[in-house]
Amino acid sequence: MRDYKVPKYNYAAQFRALRDGLVPEIERLLLDGRYVLGPPTEEFERAFAHFLGGVGVAGLNSGTDALVLALDAVGVRAGDEVVTVANTFHATALAAARLGATPVFVDCRESDFLVDLDQVPAALGPRTRAVVVVHLFGQAVDVERAIGICAAGGVTLVEDCAQAVGARSGGHRVGTRSSAGCWSFSPAKNLAAAGDAGAISTPDPEVARRVALLRHFGQPRQNEHEILGYNSRLDAIQALVLSHKLDMVDDWSRARGEVAARYRAELSGLPLRFQEGAAPEEHVYHLFQVRTESERVRDALVDHLQDHGIDAVVRYPVPLHLQPAFADLGLRRGRFPVAEKLAVETLCLPIRPDLDEGDISYVCETVRGFYGTP
Ligand SMILES: Cc1ncc(COP(=O)(O)O)c(C=O)c1O
Repeated sequence: MRDYKVPKYNYAAQFRALRDGLVPEIERLLLDGRYVLGPPTEEFERAFAHFLGGVGVAGLNSGTDALVLALDAVGVRAGDEVVTVANTFHATALAAARLGATPVFVDCRESDFLVDLDQVPAALGPRTRAVVVVHLFGQAVDVERAIGICAAGGVTLVEDCAQAVGARSGGHRVGTRSSAGCWSFSPAKNLAAAGDAGAISTPDPEVARRVALLRHFGQPRQNEHEILGYNSRLDAIQALVLSHKLDMVDDWSRARGEVAARYRAELSGLPLRFQEGAAPEEHVYHLFQVRTESERVRDALVDHLQDHGIDAVVRYPVPLHLQPAFADLGLRRGRFPVAEKLAVETLCLPIRPDLDEGDISYVCETVRGFYGTP
């Protein structure tokens, strides 16, 4: 792996601080032997439910499984349609397709890079079963509005919260007011396990009941299989890691917000645009997206940053409708112009709670250097 001066991730840094408390608990668990759906998983589920503000939580294998199981639990079946946004991580739409449903994309907005909710009503049809909104890069979609649109259309709202742990919409944590919030705790996420992990949150007891069955072979009791399920349970060791980190997430989000505020202030005179519209305390800055004027400039800026040891990356360079995996949908270039423009004009600057003053200044100086501005 290349040695960066400012890497985008520093997974191990978080564990150094946790070591004294966490390692003995892992040892106790290993000797205790209750590895599957035991006390550590239940404790994390309780703690995360409390963090969100009193919803049901089921710990799962991954964020991708959370999306698949949530859509399954709300009744998405083969032949249905699921409306979602064209600029997101692949798993959002993969989940619908895995269930035999058709993802129906809408575009995102120039201002905040989030789903354009104005386009959703026209995308709803007789086969639409659910809408999946994505709180992308740590910024929440307007959940209240999405709830209203889905209620008017008679369809179910699901939230992809993978990038937005702790983010708020209208003062409420995301993942608490729709049928299901889908969480990823994979190592790059703001709340990160030491491997794959995920969860579903839901205020709906029937969805909670179905998810509890689905994640455990559809099995309410040993040797009884009520529905076709999956094997997708939050691993006990990962649950311990997550429980040890959960108390720190809001502080880490504040630290991320401070880095974002510095980037915004120090890069403000340059021909760059940022995600607009969120109250600073509602955004959790999973990624810090920067929009340049063109693909040529974006690519040159990424190269410049990489050459200076800054691990700037592109998320996501190809919108979902142009990915080979969704070629069957027959959606051509030009169909979702904003998603297509963002795919070629944006890049992410490193953002982590542990970036120090020197790192932040170096990133800003290097970006300004690219534009020839001291
Ligand atoms: C928006 C979004 N949805 C879903 C996922 C899938 O989560 P996981 O990697 O835990 O399966 C991710 C992250 O990988 C994501 O960023």
